[in-house]
Amino acid sequence: MHRWMLTWNLHRALSGLYLHAVFLFGSVHLACGDCTPEQLAAIVNCSKHERHTRNYDYMEGGDVRLRQLYSRTQWFLTIDDSGNIRGTQDPTNCYSILEIRTVSEKGVLAIKGIKSQRYISMNKKGQLQGKRIYNDNCNFKEFFLENYFNAYASVKWNTTKEMFITLSQKGRPLRGKKTRREQVASHFIPMKCKEDEDRQVE
Ligand SMILES: *[C@@H]1O[C@H](CO)[C@@H](O)[C@H](O)[C@H]1NC(C)=O
Ligand SMILES: *[C@@H]1O[C@H](CO)[C@@H](O)[C@H](O)[C@H]1NC(C)=O
Repeated sequence: MHRWMLTWNLHRALSGLYLHAVFLFGSVHLACGDCTPEQLAAIVNCSKHERHTRNYDYMEGGDVRLRQLYSRTQWFLTIDDSGNIRGTQDPTNCYSILEIRTVSEKGVLAIKGIKSQRYISMNKKGQLQGKRIYNDNCNFKEFFLENYFNAYASVKWNTTKEMFITLSQKGRPLRGKKTRREQVASHFIPMKCKEDEDRQVE
């Protein structure tokens, strides 16, 4: 576990440097298939912010990728500094840049806003909130749907039915108990923002 942490720290330090270099030299070496230059700039801005504030002491290891979650209802999911979760239509909004980390091999992951440093968390009532401290309310299981979209259901609150992360047509999360896997509001595409291969350090 300790060794993993060291590797992980190095990995982070180098990716920070890399982003810093990109920022300084205006390089376009980020192999980012779907990103516009504005999105890249936003990501570099967000990542700079992240370098000064992140704290993973309570949670180490796991595969990490930077993504935006784009809903089938056409919103980018954001987590703001007060912990509100809602959609934006601005693809360069810093609060939409998310770090998705694998928590366990069964498709369980944690989703954190890079700018707000808050994890998406679901409470017992199925309400979504961004939380500073990671705990098992922040674990979501990723389902790959036949239509190329993904759905994210709370692992912890799954006693009577599954409750999903959603953004309605108005860009607001629905109460978990009203959510279903088949529902359009539950469907997201994780959009790549930066090639993770660039950050591999072994
Ligand atoms: C990046 O940050 C700078 C300074 O904080 C700001 O002026 C600029 O608009 C930001 N760019 C993006 C794309 O967010
Ligand atoms: C919820 O429980 C059901 C039945 O045990 C299981 O098949 C499903 O994978 C669980 N969902 C989540 C999100 O953990």
